[in-house]
Amino acid sequence: MEPAVKYRLKHVDAHTGARLGELITPHGTFPTPMFMPVGTQASVKTLAPEELETMGAGVILANTYHLWLRPGEDIVEAAGGLHKFMNWDKGILTDSGGFQVFSLAELRDITEEGVHFKNHLNGSKMFLSPEKAIAIENALGPDIMMSFDECPPFFESYDYVAKSVARTTRWAERGLKAHQNPDWQALFGIVQGAGFKDLRQQSARDLVSLDFPGYSIGGLSVGESKEEMNHVLDFTTPLLPEDKPRYLMGVGSPDALIDGVMRGIDMFDCVLPTRIARNGTTMTSNGRIVIKNAKYARDFGPLDPNCDCYTCRNYSRAYIRHLIHADEAFGIRLTSYHNLYFLLHLMQQVREAIANDQLSDFRAAFFEQYG
Ligand code: GUN
Ligand code: ZN
Repeated sequence: MEPAVKYRLKHVDAHTGARLGELITPHGTFPTPMFMPVGTQASVKTLAPEELETMGAGVILANTYHLWLRPGEDIVEAAGGLHKFMNWDKGILTDSGGFQVFSLAELRDITEEGVHFKNHLNGSKMFLSPEKAIAIENALGPDIMMSFDECPPFFESYDYVAKSVARTTRWAERGLKAHQNPDWQALFGIVQGAGFKDLRQQSARDLVSLDFPGYSIGGLSVGESKEEMNHVLDFTTPLLPEDKPRYLMGVGSPDALIDGVMRGIDMFDCVLPTRIARNGTTMTSNGRIVIKNAKYARDFGPLDPNCDCYTCRNYSRAYIRHLIHADEAFGIRLTSYHNLYFLLHLMQQVREAIANDQLSDFRAAFFEQYG
């Protein structure tokens, strides 16, 4: 059987490991490397699907954990699946809930069978297992689903991480068996292993032997340094098959995106652009600016003079600052739009640089200006 999602490698940068390619999904073919906006609860906060499409988004994320608790996967399924429910007809990827149970829920008890926890909405006792996570993802109907994994803290002990990684691999295998729709939903395996080289390598090898249609790298951007993350990528991505997509989970700062691309990553997601937008911080070609600051009160220029997004073509820093101070919802819509556009546009420039074998030069020029 053909996998539901395929990767086509088109060109490798002459001087780095960066890959130009395409992700072929049941809801369209999208150029990689790509950044995926996060829509945790089946909504990219403040933005309409039409707006995401206009700014060039291809795949967006949603979360199994959140949609399971509310409204319930049965309701999404009855609506005809996530695409119909939220009116988005391009790609959707769901995270499995593993990470969210560990970061949001209380009183977790991890067993071989799965994780017992109290949910963060009403404190009721719940249980999530690899089979249950896959059943929910099958009902939600995204193009790409994540295996149920444990994301241990980066600085956990070797013994703990070794046991956790082995269990995550067993969970991935159970998920693969439970998966009902491999012909139209691609299930990715998630490489774990914190900062331990041999554990990362073991995890990658074991998952590759299970032959997933794509591979995620998890357990990064959880408090370790940039150098530590890059080091893990340096010895992990070479073990992943060249003809499958590679997804670095939870990474979205401009430097980490470019560093990941240079190490052979094809897909990224992060709440960063939309989260900082809601507290009035924007990414511009000259670095981050905090638009709430008094110095922008009479600044009638755009957020970013080098940006041609809807926000920057039509509104001034002074106006956006006013809206955010006055708690007007339109203000955070404008900053969210700009920040997502900024990262999607950055990835477009990265793809052009790879095509021209100039990613290293692009990186240097970008950070010369971004700071
Ligand atoms: N999002 C960011 N990191 C992770 C991870 O390690 N696992 C999962 N499932 N999601 C993530
Ligand atoms: Zn803009």
